[in-house]
Amino acid sequence: MRRFIIAGNWKMNKTIVDAIELANGIKRELYDIESLDIVICTPFTALSEVGEVVVDSNIDLGGQDLFWEEKGAYTGEISAGMLKDAGCKYVIIGHSERRKHFAETNETVNKKLKSALKTGLLPIVCVGERLEEREAKKTFDVIKDHVENSLKGISKEDILKTTIAYEPVWAIGTGKTATPEQAEEVHAFIRGLLTKLYDEATASAIRIQYGGSVTPDNVEGLLGKENIDGALVGGASLKLDSFSSMIKKASKLK
Ligand code: PGA
Repeated sequence: MRRFIIAGNWKMNKTIVDAIELANGIKRELYDIESLDIVICTPFTALSEVGEVVVDSNIDLGGQDLFWEEKGAYTGEISAGMLKDAGCKYVIIGHSERRKHFAETNETVNKKLKSALKTGLLPIVCVGERLEEREAKKTFDVIKDHVENSLKGISKEDILKTTIAYEPVWAIGTGKTATPEQAEEVHAFIRGLLTKLYDEATASAIRIQYGGSVTPDNVEGLLGKENIDGALVGGASLKLDSFSSMIKKASKLK
C-alpha cells in the first residue's frame, strides 16, 4: 500500500526566524503522526536552520529546486550535494513556477532528476497543464509529454524513489482546486503511463501527489481517491493551523 506524502512548498516566503518558528510549531503539533510522510520545503536560506529543528523528528526537509552540476562556476545555483549537506531528504523539481518564470523544460527537469537521484535525494517531479491547454482538451497530451520526457532514462529502481506531483497550473494559488474526480482522472492516466514505461507492479508502487489550492477543507475528498497519494501544498502550508489540520485529517484516512 502506498503511504501518503504531504509536502509543504513554502516558495519564496519566510525569514529564517519565521521559518524556525513555523517548523517548531509543525513539529510540536504533529509529533505523533506516523502514518504518513511529512515534508517541508523551505527557501534555501532557511534550510540548514530548519534542518536542525526537524532533525530526529517525523518531519523531513526538502529543497525547492537544484542545479544538476555538482559544483563550480554556476553563480546563484545550488547542487544536490549542497541540499543534502543542509539536511534535505527531498527536492521538488520542475514546479510550474520554475517552468514559467525560469525557463525550466522537460530536458532540464530530467537532468536535475538524475542529479538528485545520483546524490541520494528523493525527488518530487511536478507535471501539469495550463488553463488554455485544459480548455483546448490537451491535458493528457501535456501530461504525457511531461511524464515521458522528464523521466527519460530513469531506472525502475530510481523511479520507485520518485514522487510525481500532478499540479494543474490553473489550480495553483488560485483557490480553484481540481475536483477530486478531475484530479483522479489525471492521476489514473499518469499511473497508466508509468505502467507502460515500467510495469504494473512498479507503477502501482509510485506515489502521485496532487497540488493546487489544497486546504484542510478539500484534502479528504482528494486523498480519498484511489490514485491520489498525498498533496503538494503551497499557500496552506505557510500557516501552522491549516498545515497541521490538513495533515491530521489525512492521517486518519489510512
Ligand atoms: P497552492 O500551491 O497550494 O498555493 O495552490 C501549490 C504548489 O504550487 O505546489
